[in-house]
Amino acid sequence: MTPPPAFPSLAPATLAPAQAAPALAARDLRHGFGSTPVLHGVSLSVEGGEVVAVTGPSGSGKSTLLHLLGGLDTPQAGEVWWAGERVDSLGTQARALRRAGRVGLVFQHHYLLEDLSVLQNVLVPALLTRQDGQERARALLRRVGLAGRESSLPGVLSGGERQRVAVARALATRPAVILADEPTGSLDRANAEVIATLLLDLAREDGAGVLLVTHDERLAAHAGRALHLLDGRIVDA
Ligand SMILES: Nc1ncnc2c1ncn2[C@@H]1O[C@H](COP(=O)(O)OP(=O)(O)OP(=O)(O)O)[C@@H](O)[C@H]1O
Ligand SMILES: [Mg+2]
Repeated sequence: MTPPPAFPSLAPATLAPAQAAPALAARDLRHGFGSTPVLHGVSLSVEGGEVVAVTGPSGSGKSTLLHLLGGLDTPQAGEVWWAGERVDSLGTQARALRRAGRVGLVFQHHYLLEDLSVLQNVLVPALLTRQDGQERARALLRRVGLAGRESSLPGVLSGGERQRVAVARALATRPAVILADEPTGSLDRANAEVIATLLLDLAREDGAGVLLVTHDERLAAHAGRALHLLDGRIVDA
């Protein structure tokens, strides 16, 4: 008796793990200012749950790269993808809405809105994406040690406290991607350590992919891998 026919084409497809898109991807980014080229073709990808450090000398283009990856600026050439969607080709407004839902930004200077309360600042990304973020925002503020300060204005907070608000805001919509540009650069050592740990712990809990620019070796040590930027290209560290 002949054996029943196998279905080789079905088995591997059913068994293969689902291929999730990377949290963040860039292909051949090129950018410059005036006649000065800064990035000469940068490609990278960050998976969900991964922490990647970006290092490089001052002026090498780290902040320029993060601005492009965060959709705050449009590359002169190349592609930016968030969670499987190409976003560099979107209009400014569509991109801003996608950013609010998918990307958390933490910069050296926190850019809080000074006329809004602590809680309202954390709620801004949720409002843009029409989510009811109240519960999540309050929980995040508790996690960063600011329970009870929800209705304070940013102006009365210390530098470290303001950066904690920025961390809570970056995580508010459970973004796929966290972009951090020297997030602890303006803080003293003790505060820097606490805030960096909070940011990375919260990102890990949500499975976000993190790209982190830092001069702080101890902070870079938290990353699973490092990308070194030199003369507008990523080189082997
Ligand atoms: N808006 C701008 N207009 C003109 N030139 C700019 C602008 N932004 C950045 N540059 C130039 O691009 C180059 C890269 O700057 P960038 O801020 O990306 O460097 P960086 O690696 O982040 O440096 P640092 O470590 O000092 O923060 C620099 O030469 C800078 O002067
Ligand atoms: Mg910079």
